[in-house]
Amino acid sequence: MTSAPPDPADPAPEPATTGGAGRAVPRPPYALTVVVPTLNERDNVRALHAALAAALDGESWEVVFVDDDSADGTPGEVAALAAEAGNVRLLRRIGRRGLSTAFIEGALSSTAPVIACIDADLQHDERLLPAMLAAIRNGEAEVAIGSRYAAGGGEEGLVGGRKDVSRYGTRLANWLVGSHVTDPLSGFFAIERGAFEDSVRRLSGIGFKILVDILASAPRPLKIVELPYTFRPRHAGASKFDSLVGAEYLQLLIDKALRGAVPARFVLFCVVGGSGLLLHLGVLWAIHGWLDFAVAQAVATLVAMTSNFFLNNFLTYADRRLKGWRVLWGLGSFYAICSVGAVANVGVASFLYRSEDAFWGLAGLAGALVGAVWNFAVSSIVTWRK
Ligand code: GDD
Ligand code: MN
Repeated sequence: MTSAPPDPADPAPEPATTGGAGRAVPRPPYALTVVVPTLNERDNVRALHAALAAALDGESWEVVFVDDDSADGTPGEVAALAAEAGNVRLLRRIGRRGLSTAFIEGALSSTAPVIACIDADLQHDERLLPAMLAAIRNGEAEVAIGSRYAAGGGEEGLVGGRKDVSRYGTRLANWLVGSHVTDPLSGFFAIERGAFEDSVRRLSGIGFKILVDILASAPRPLKIVELPYTFRPRHAGASKFDSLVGAEYLQLLIDKALRGAVPARFVLFCVVGGSGLLLHLGVLWAIHGWLDFAVAQAVATLVAMTSNFFLNNFLTYADRRLKGWRVLWGLGSFYAICSVGAVANVGVASFLYRSEDAFWGLAGLAGALVGAVWNFAVSSIVTWRK
């Protein structure tokens, strides 16, 4: 290489106006990258870009739409917009889902010193962005959060039961991750790049709640400011909030609370198994006076296994939930797997009890653990295979 490193005292090169003969058109060094996760948001793309442009007038900013293979033509709409506006990028993911990982990957695709996250549907008040940017620039904050619950904020756009879910989830988040922010579930925030980079390798990336993930993953307490805003009704399209989002939030909290030591899915599987045990004993208690004990035990086992299957299908494997006819196949395979697990359980426990002269409780526990691991491992690749 013969070229000398650029002298920092040199004036910046003149921006080229055409892309002729091997000369790239330089893009400005953006001060802010706005990451917008999208799933079927076609009719919000242009409206959001216009709103951002109005709010960030005079600022150097870009927007990255991170789309998970929307079926409604969202990527095409973003591409058309990108052909008109210079500050629009599109990041497409196929065979992947998730708001959190969409934000992470959008942020990783940018080099701007500040990264913001905002929903595509105009529920978040983009007019807060300049104040967020200012708070981070002047060192007042590393994370600036748009809050529905700080004094002056509001949640008009949250319908019915969503309000309670949100308040309850907020309390749970603060309690578990030890944060003290009014709206940790907010999907609207800006973060300084260094703070993001410090926690990015620790992020769980599960589900919808990327801010909780970031706050819980930061290696040191972050400087936070919260800016109140009123959550607006959705502009176009439909919300993606459903029971899957709730289940994934639970998994995220478990993952953060245990610092990833045990997979959150296995924890849920064991919790469900524990509930099955209680149910089993309850059923046995209720019917053992009426039926032959072996029959009563068999009935209780079947009830517990069935309940375990449906709870796991709803909670533990919410993202691979079986529906329609596949529920029957799933239930059948789950019965079969758990039966083998029970045989392994009894085998291991008896072996330990006899040959190692182990304490009965320890032998029983070891057997139960072997059975649980077997049930979990095999059902995850057979019953709830990807
Ligand atoms: N790429 C991608 N992948 N985007 C997604 C996915 C996904 O799997 N799921 C949802 N999104 C996008 C939506 O297209 C939308 O732009 C944004 O994420 C939020 O989805 P909504 O369906 O509008 O969520 P909400 O209104 O129920 O809740 C939102 O607002 C809350 C309040 O700030 C979320 O952002 C919550 O995290 C937030 O707490
Ligand atoms: Mn929304």
